[in-house]
Amino acid sequence: YKVKWDVEAAEKGGYEHFMLKEIHEQPKAIKDTFRGRIVDGCDIVLDDLKITKEQLANIDKIFIVACGTAYHAGIVGKYTIEKFARIPVEVDIASEFRYRNPIINERTLTIVISQSGETADTIAALKEAKSHASRVIAITNVVGSTVSREADDVIYTWAGPEIAVASTKAYTTQLVAIYLIALDLALKKGTITREYAAEICEGLKALPEKIQNFLDNKDEIQKFASEHYNTRDVFYLGRGLDYAVAMEGSLKLKEISYIHSEAYAAGELKHGTLALIEDGTLTIAIATQENLFEKMLSNIREVTTRGGYVLAFVMEGNTQLEGVVGKVIYLPETLEEIAPIMAVVPLQLLAYYMAVDKGCDVDKPRNLAKSVTVE
Ligand code: G6P
Repeated sequence: YKVKWDVEAAEKGGYEHFMLKEIHEQPKAIKDTFRGRIVDGCDIVLDDLKITKEQLANIDKIFIVACGTAYHAGIVGKYTIEKFARIPVEVDIASEFRYRNPIINERTLTIVISQSGETADTIAALKEAKSHASRVIAITNVVGSTVSREADDVIYTWAGPEIAVASTKAYTTQLVAIYLIALDLALKKGTITREYAAEICEGLKALPEKIQNFLDNKDEIQKFASEHYNTRDVFYLGRGLDYAVAMEGSLKLKEISYIHSEAYAAGELKHGTLALIEDGTLTIAIATQENLFEKMLSNIREVTTRGGYVLAFVMEGNTQLEGVVGKVIYLPETLEEIAPIMAVVPLQLLAYYMAVDKGCDVDKPRNLAKSVTVE
């Protein structure tokens, strides 16, 4: 036993859990995932994405199919590809997609996302798409995995091995891959300018350092967790890209801390969930999108006037929530298009510290597996 413990401790590299180690590996994992793929400011070099301009002109629909955290990366993909490349995108859960006879043909492009590349439902969805003549692009973290072998094109995330069941660096690197694909498709279609693409690329390149700075100041999150880990329910709210981040934050919390949580598109709150807000109910609002900020503000007020306690995440420089909510945590200023990569980090940390404070087995949560290779 002693030997086993020492080996494990060594693998954790001084961190108490793999999850915390992997959260801290994100700056490097993100850098490794865009390295060599952005040249001359904005030319996207994805060696394995062999789709030509002519082939792309024939595509009239994109499906993104995945499970769990990878599905949440897919939602960011929908918003981003539609915004940049102006192609309709539908995101689906692999276990739904495979059995609902989706409308797929040779004009459909399918993107599957899978950290392990071995998730049974995702593999089945990939095969379903291929059998209807759709070209399939895979985003995966494992070289030689089933998904990488079956797909037409493969974009690897270079996150390195992810051991903790709760996915962190795999998710943020999946987002990087999604942004690179969206930029590539948009530049090929001519729906964005090179200047705009260069701006997004600059933003991506600046992220590792910003995330590092945030990680160096994570005590604020740790302290917040220590004051709130006894909470029974948590609601996550966001609009646009922040809604996708809310879903991922909520999943992190429930899977490792066993605290009940739900994510809501903030505008949908009043259609049901608002009934659950009582005195002190913890609500986490993510508000990084400028054009949606006023709307978020009124949704936040809907919660505070019912006595809910709001923790808000906003970009540095936006002080409008001071005095309005219980606590504001500032994110290093990031281009709003790529804000999800930054905004998810505090939510990962919050889930982590709440789970640790509750005494949960953070790296191996009950009932869950890292890779679900059976149905
Ligand atoms: C499991 C893991 C999740 C993961 C999902 C999809 O449920 O616990 O963290 O997001 O599978 O896995 P994949 O390897 O396909 O990304």
